[in-house]
Amino acid sequence: MSLGFVPTMGALHQGHLSLLKKSRSQNELSLCSIFINPTQFNNKADLKNYPSRLKEDIKLLGAAGCDVVFTPPVSEIYPGGLPSEEYDFGQLDKVMEGVQRPGHFNGVAMVVARFFEIIQPQRAYFGEKDYQQLAIIRSLAAQKFKNIEIVSCPTLREKSGLAMSSRNLLLNERYQIAAQRIYQRLLSVKKRAKNANVAELELWVANEFKKDGDLVLEYFEIVDAKSLKKSTGWSDFPEHVACLAVFAGTTRLIDNILLKIN
Ligand code: PAJ
Repeated sequence: MSLGFVPTMGALHQGHLSLLKKSRSQNELSLCSIFINPTQFNNKADLKNYPSRLKEDIKLLGAAGCDVVFTPPVSEIYPGGLPSEEYDFGQLDKVMEGVQRPGHFNGVAMVVARFFEIIQPQRAYFGEKDYQQLAIIRSLAAQKFKNIEIVSCPTLREKSGLAMSSRNLLLNERYQIAAQRIYQRLLSVKKRAKNANVAELELWVANEFKKDGDLVLEYFEIVDAKSLKKSTGWSDFPEHVACLAVFAGTTRLIDNILLKIN
């Protein structure tokens, strides 16, 4: 009997449900976890404000055909208190989110490893929306869980193009509209990449956000889609990914787009 595992932090949306759908298509049983993992929040206010809607989530999962919902308390996942295991992901956590959110990926790896040990799924499902997280999880599985297949799932977007995210619930109307510009700019990057080099694109993006009254760019980086090493030119790697983090007010949003130039 094959078991598919979809880890989440709740406040579920169609993006999460698309992972479940894929799991259901590939496994006899699917389990979703809802657990707001304290060890991956490097900012206390972010943890405190993270949306929580357990009742609605359980309803959604039931309607979507989830077989098991796992919502453990912190004490069950970390019985000895919050641990301080250290993982080595080489270059993968030395850029972008890894730089801006120190300890974040270590916390993600810790909780996912804990879940893998408890649940022992055949397959686990992760979204490309969190591109760097997916790379970290692939590395974790290669190091410690070779018999778990990591399945990646495309980013689901609102009609406006905004990547679905639990954090979108925190946006007021003004910032919801502003946040639509994030993906529009990533699409422009993809278009412009045919006639511009990496440095020109980075400058263009920085300028677009400088002119924007509502969005503040934290980083924009173009990196190798595999190693996440910084791209200096299109010939560096066969496939690149442009990743960014943006503040819409106090809400931090991330998104990315794949760039195949040649
Ligand atoms: P969370 O942000 O709840 O996301 C759970 C999963 O849903 C992740 O794999 C994420 O990439 C995926 N996801 C989120 N938005 C998506 C979208 N618009 N389209 C497709 N997939 C999307 O990521 C986490 O939780 C946590 O770090 C976790 C892995 C659960 C560890 O605590």
